[in-house]
Amino acid sequence: MPLKSDANRWGVGARTLHWVMALLIIGAGIVGLYMSDLPNSPQKIRIYALHKSVGLTVLALLLLRVTWSLADRRPREVPMPLWQAMAARVVHLLLYALMLLLPLSGWLYNSASGYPLQWFGLFNLPSLTGGADPALRAVAHELHEYGFWLLVIALVAHAGAALKHHIVDRDDTLVRMLPLLRRRAAAPTSVAPAAAAPASAIVPPAAAPADPVKENPAP
Ligand code: HEM
Ligand code: HEM
Repeated sequence: MPLKSDANRWGVGARTLHWVMALLIIGAGIVGLYMSDLPNSPQKIRIYALHKSVGLTVLALLLLRVTWSLADRRPREVPMPLWQAMAARVVHLLLYALMLLLPLSGWLYNSASGYPLQWFGLFNLPSLTGGADPALRAVAHELHEYGFWLLVIALVAHAGAALKHHIVDRDDTLVRMLPLLRRRAAAPTSVAPAAAAPASAIVPPAAAPADPVKENPAP
């Protein structure tokens, strides 16, 4: 299992970063939606702190991912219509932008609310505003909330396209990012030679359809 990507597949480095970040982002989103409506309690404060720490981890992993991608290479494009390749590129760029926007707007919101910020209780992070700032707080909150719903839309398109490649096009797009699915995707390839053979080579004469003219003679 090579660490780096090659022409045909993503390496362990890129795949691990992709899936760990995907889980953390989806987790942060679910916790974020759940926590906002909780009644005030020490439990709510703990859940907020967890949400912020996971979000900050996403930010750190994003820096690592971008650095890693500079040293890594992209596998070559799976053959597909130009518009699909361009749409995939646009959605990937949007996802990168949102992976930056969400943690930063959360951090800004927290700073502009005048709250302290810790990473899993281990160390403090500085304020981005130097104190409470109600106007900035409102802007950061809008960015955080609308950014999240934009992420949901981009993610539905992204994951939907990946599943369409796997199930409908039966190509390698998802398998090279999630090799666990390899066996299932390999099945069609193994029957391809038979499927490509002329009908006469695979349908025994006895099973061949009856001649429609003899079966239904003209009156
Ligand atoms: C991938 C990263 C993140 C995601 C996906 C995310 C997602 C969310 C979501 C869905 C909400 C609920 C929005 C609403 O309905 O009002 C929320 C709220 C919140 N997030 Fe994040 N967040 C992330 C990172 C962060 C970070 C890094 C911080 C702070 C350092 C943060 C601080 C907050 C706060 C304070 C709220 C509560 C807002 C309120 O009380 O209305 N988030 N987040
Ligand atoms: C929050 C969740 C996710 C985010 C932020 C995300 C983000 C990304 C980004 C930015 C890329 C492009 C990598 C690059 O070119 O450097 C990518 C690739 C990919 N993602 Fe995701 N992803 C997420 C979840 C998913 C899910 C749920 C699936 C599948 C159901 C998926 C399947 C893929 C596949 C197959 C590729 C490789 C595409 C190719 O080879 O061109 N991703 N993802």
